[in-house]
Amino acid sequence: MIRRITVLGAGTMGHGIAQVAAMAGYEVIMRDIEEKFIESGYNRIKKSLEKLVKKGKITREEADLILKRIKKTTNLEEAVKQADFVIEAVPEVFEIKAEVFKAVDELAPPHAIIATNTSSLPISELAEATNRPDKFVGMHFFNPPQIMKLVEVVRGNKTSEQTVNTTLELAKSMKKEPVVVNKDVPGFIVNRVLVRWLNEACLIVERGESDILTVDSSLKYVAELPMGAFELSDFIGIDVMRDIIRAMVKRGFKLTPCKSWDKLVEEGKLGAKSSLGFYDWSSGRPNIPKELSTKFDPKQVLAMAVNEGAWLVREGVASTEDVDKAVILGLNFPKGVLSMGDEWGLDVVKSIIEGKRSRYGLPEYEVDPLIEELVSKGFLGVKSGKGFHDYGLREEDLNQVKYKATPPIAWIILNRPDKLNALDMELLNSLRKALDMALDDEIKVVVITGSGKAFSAGADVSMFKGLSPIDAYRLSRELNEFFDELERYPKPTIASINGFALGGGLELAMACDLRVASDRAQLGQPEITLGIITGAGGSKRLPKLVGLAKAKELLFTGDIISADEAEKIGLVNRVVPHEKLEEEVRSLALKIASMPSNSIRLYKSILNGEQEPLAFGLVFSTEDSKEGINAFLEKRRPKFSGK
Ligand code: COA
Repeated sequence: MIRRITVLGAGTMGHGIAQVAAMAGYEVIMRDIEEKFIESGYNRIKKSLEKLVKKGKITREEADLILKRIKKTTNLEEAVKQADFVIEAVPEVFEIKAEVFKAVDELAPPHAIIATNTSSLPISELAEATNRPDKFVGMHFFNPPQIMKLVEVVRGNKTSEQTVNTTLELAKSMKKEPVVVNKDVPGFIVNRVLVRWLNEACLIVERGESDILTVDSSLKYVAELPMGAFELSDFIGIDVMRDIIRAMVKRGFKLTPCKSWDKLVEEGKLGAKSSLGFYDWSSGRPNIPKELSTKFDPKQVLAMAVNEGAWLVREGVASTEDVDKAVILGLNFPKGVLSMGDEWGLDVVKSIIEGKRSRYGLPEYEVDPLIEELVSKGFLGVKSGKGFHDYGLREEDLNQVKYKATPPIAWIILNRPDKLNALDMELLNSLRKALDMALDDEIKVVVITGSGKAFSAGADVSMFKGLSPIDAYRLSRELNEFFDELERYPKPTIASINGFALGGGLELAMACDLRVASDRAQLGQPEITLGIITGAGGSKRLPKLVGLAKAKELLFTGDIISADEAEKIGLVNRVVPHEKLEEEVRSLALKIASMPSNSIRLYKSILNGEQEPLAFGLVFSTEDSKEGINAFLEKRRPKFSGK
């Protein structure tokens, strides 16, 4: 159990960590090498607590108790001899830290865990300065520790599971949200992602693809990040950025540093703290005009951060959830980089990086194999129900029909391509089952389409061979009822007509609410050429869509018409290029899915002429309906008021 925590270093990070630990109720010893450093750190804690009292977040008594829990010393032995947990926050110089750890190892009790707050040095190598590498761990707080919720808990190659778990629990008890970094990679999670997009923004400007203000404006106003890349670099400090990048590149991070880092440091332009950096800060935060935001695509910058996130997951450094959590909490992004990639489409991320590769050939422009794999499996992100994250993709192979739920859309795919999705009883039963599955609350729009070159080439003609008139009558009744039901289906339906829609296939499409056709689609009611007539509602629905004269023409001739012709006469809502069919249907479906479903349902009822159900719904808004029903149930005479 941890009771006593020692913080080594009373600087910016050290004093903040000490305060957080004391606020969580631990006995804290804060140690630095000189009295004046300790006093300065201690005073900063006092001030910070004072502020919290003023804001009413804690009482004065609490503040006093917290301060009382913090002991100060310059003596290392005194500082660590009774410690359960030691957190080091001394300068980021390997030799200084290693020396401190060697001494701590000798002086601290054997059970004590030693943690380093380093952001750039290898944990496993620092651990070697001690004889307890299993009890050595990275515990990377973010600045200011009092406010930033994130802590990266970093496993060295000998850190034990128990040490990691204890550190996670400790972080949680300090009201932090820890993420686990399973491998001691340079930059852990947050700095790797940070450096990727800041350096990429800088390279883009360096190459003259855009300018500082435009890039920052798009990052702020389109990607909705709290700061643009250049604004943030200035804020962090150009020298700090340069040092982080240098340290990471030295340890093998694949990156081509932008030249501005060195150049600005040489010119003494260190960012906000020196009034000049990428921006002039002499009169405060830079003014980044919103109007420029649409002149640059922020994905060009952030795709590199998504790619880095993929690397972290594939290398087993962190889980998908932890990568996103770290980015949200550590960089104040509105969403994680992996979620971002999922939203844009991983195919889009891939093509952006490939574009950079073919234009500039830098080694970091390599699509991560995880993205390649997801794209090749069709897991493109939100739009396909699965990407880095799962969005409720549910796929089911019914007999001759595939059901694929990518909420809010359900895709029902007629899957009998060798027979051009001809409708036989098996297929129709599966279609029914799929429509039942799509009643799921998460589904707002249903799309019906076909696999292969047809939507559906109609009823399976082999069913008609030797059919008696009475069986033909029954079959047609059944089909009529099914498609009437589909027309009244409680959710909006779209037929995505990917090829032939003939006979019963066109009748199915006409029973849907909307029809979007590929420019390769061909449509018609060729029944007359078989010596028969339509049997699944075609003679009823066709004239409603195209008018009586056109309907008669199509029915009497059995002509098969092109998608363009079908659009002209109103048989389909729109025609789109074949390759774009899925994308266009998805965006139409998403638009409809975002509308209030009750309104759509009522529209469907009105347009389908369902007067009685609508009036029946309305009558339940009257007082008299309540009175009448209550009176009956209470066995009394109703008193109708006309209300
Ligand atoms: N019923 C049963 N089988 C059908 C079918 C239908 N409605 N439509 C297509 N098929 C089968 C074909 O018999 C063929 O099967 P096979 O490979 O075992 O011979 C397979 O689907 C592929 O069709 P095919 O005719 O070879 O393709 P195509 O590109 O040459 O021609 C069509 C496409 C649509 C013009 C042609 O298949 C056709 O006229 N189909 C019938 C359309 C029709 O009359 N529908 C109304 C029925 S009420």
